[in-house]
Amino acid sequence: MSQKKIAVCIKHGEFGSEGIALSSFVHWTGCPTCAEERAQEVWAREESERAEVSARMAKQRRSYACIPSRFDGCTFDNYVTDTEGKRAALTAVRNFVEALDSRLDPSSKEPFWLAMHGKVGTGKSHLCVAAINAVIEKHSPMYMEVPRIVQRVSATWRRDSSESESDVVRNLTTVGLLVIDEIGVQRGTEFEQTIMTDILNARYSNHMPTILATNYNKPNLDAVLGDRIADRLREVGKRVIFDWESCRGKY
Ligand SMILES: Nc1ncnc2c1ncn2[C@@H]1O[C@H](COP(=O)(O)OP(=O)(O)OP(=O)(O)O)[C@@H](O)[C@H]1O
Ligand SMILES: [Mg+2]
Ligand SMILES: [Zn+2]
Repeated sequence: MSQKKIAVCIKHGEFGSEGIALSSFVHWTGCPTCAEERAQEVWAREESERAEVSARMAKQRRSYACIPSRFDGCTFDNYVTDTEGKRAALTAVRNFVEALDSRLDPSSKEPFWLAMHGKVGTGKSHLCVAAINAVIEKHSPMYMEVPRIVQRVSATWRRDSSESESDVVRNLTTVGLLVIDEIGVQRGTEFEQTIMTDILNARYSNHMPTILATNYNKPNLDAVLGDRIADRLREVGKRVIFDWESCRGKY
């Protein structure tokens, strides 16, 4: 038979305690408000641990994405669209990333490469990074300038390098969305063209979404990419042309 009594908590005052008869003694229940407070504390601690883990993961994702700090805050929302051309460019890039899930499907007939062509300062890199920021929680995007790709690959030739040339190429081949910026900025060496061909060829074969950005027009980009990749770009790529004056320092 259960027993009841009034007990006193030094913090919360009187409360109804219930006696539970065990084999050799009676266990009296403690203050329910204290129990509730303890549960709240555990919950808050777990919540803050979860927040810490997710902040750590977000930081890792950002570091993995290799976004240069000067573009850190670039998003679709802060891309100013004061002309029809800019509006069209923003819409094209936004639609491209919004449909990334279906683009990952190898049976999809949608273009899964996007080439941005345009003059300096027109906001290509801004939209490249905005695209990465838009999918960073869901896919594993990565931003790479061509000179950095070449540098990463050649760094593997050092005797103390922890990764091999093929590790780098495999990494760039398998990221969920690869953005290759500054194509044609430096005079393309044969070595540069070989790496780009390897990476782009593998991404083409594996149906991997890729964004290319360049100051070159279509024929010049085709020339720097080489026939094989240019042909693939024609097949699976969509072009966006940034044909206005530089906006650097304007907004
Ligand atoms: N429409 C825009 N709205 C807001 N900021 C913009 C816009 N266009 C360009 N900018 C800003 O201007 C600067 C230059 O833009 P960005 O670097 O993206 O140009 P780019 O086309 O990549 O140029 P380049 O060919 O020289 O690399 C950046 O700081 C970018 O955020
Ligand atoms: Mg740029
Ligand atoms: Zn209490």
